[in-house]
Amino acid sequence: MPKEDCHMELKIFNTPELLAKHTANKIIEAITQKPNAVLCLATGHSPVLTYRHLVEEVKRSAIDFSSVHFVGLDEWVGVKTTNPGSCHYFLHQHLFTPLKIKPSNIHLFNGLEKPIEKQCAVMTETIKNMGGIDLMLVGLGKNGHIGFNEPGCDENLSAHVISLDKITLQGSRKYFHDDTPLEKGITLGIQSVLESNQVILVANGVKKAEIVKQTIEQPISMNIPATMLRKHKQSHMFVDAKAAKKLENQ
Ligand code: F6R
Repeated sequence: MPKEDCHMELKIFNTPELLAKHTANKIIEAITQKPNAVLCLATGHSPVLTYRHLVEEVKRSAIDFSSVHFVGLDEWVGVKTTNPGSCHYFLHQHLFTPLKIKPSNIHLFNGLEKPIEKQCAVMTETIKNMGGIDLMLVGLGKNGHIGFNEPGCDENLSAHVISLDKITLQGSRKYFHDDTPLEKGITLGIQSVLESNQVILVANGVKKAEIVKQTIEQPISMNIPATMLRKHKQSHMFVDAKAAKKLENQ
């Protein structure tokens, strides 16, 4: 990593399984330290195995999640919460239903609400009122986005609505069974990411190898939003061996 980066911890795991177990344990550690922690967890393919391990471990060890609050990281604008491609649906399916999270502890964006922008101030206020985000878990877009903070967007934003990048739109089809039209996203901003107490970025597989390399080796800038995590005092980047394949000093 370039010299200016003394903050981000990089960990490479031999398998996605080991990465997922470690990440799930980090979430459990945060809840153990602070039972009423505020979590902000990504959707998408990267964290699925982590959430499976988390649910298994929470059930096995009877970890109390009843006081944990969850805030949304992002959502596709115009997509119903009942659409299996929505972030809302994903989080209920993988986490909230199996963990029996109370609706009052769930604070997500709704892609259908109008005007969509109204939710930005509400979400920022909700997070503030709960004392901030304790742990944020993000995936890594092939274009370097985190949440829906696309390359070139403003680093000073908290929650905002954004036109999705071409690469994000191309990649989005894997989440949808139908041809749901997609154009914009609503997302917490880089400011919200940097204000979170702890941030974990996870990346798996050879498809992420190039952007993992750029995230670690390119200068910090909004051309690759994920590089901003290198400024964070408590950030971790957990990647599997395939995603780490292009790194120079493994
Ligand atoms: C999803 C999100 C996105 C994804 C990213 C990687 O809530 O915020 O930034 O994390 O696009 O997606 P996957 O994990 O499907 O490769």
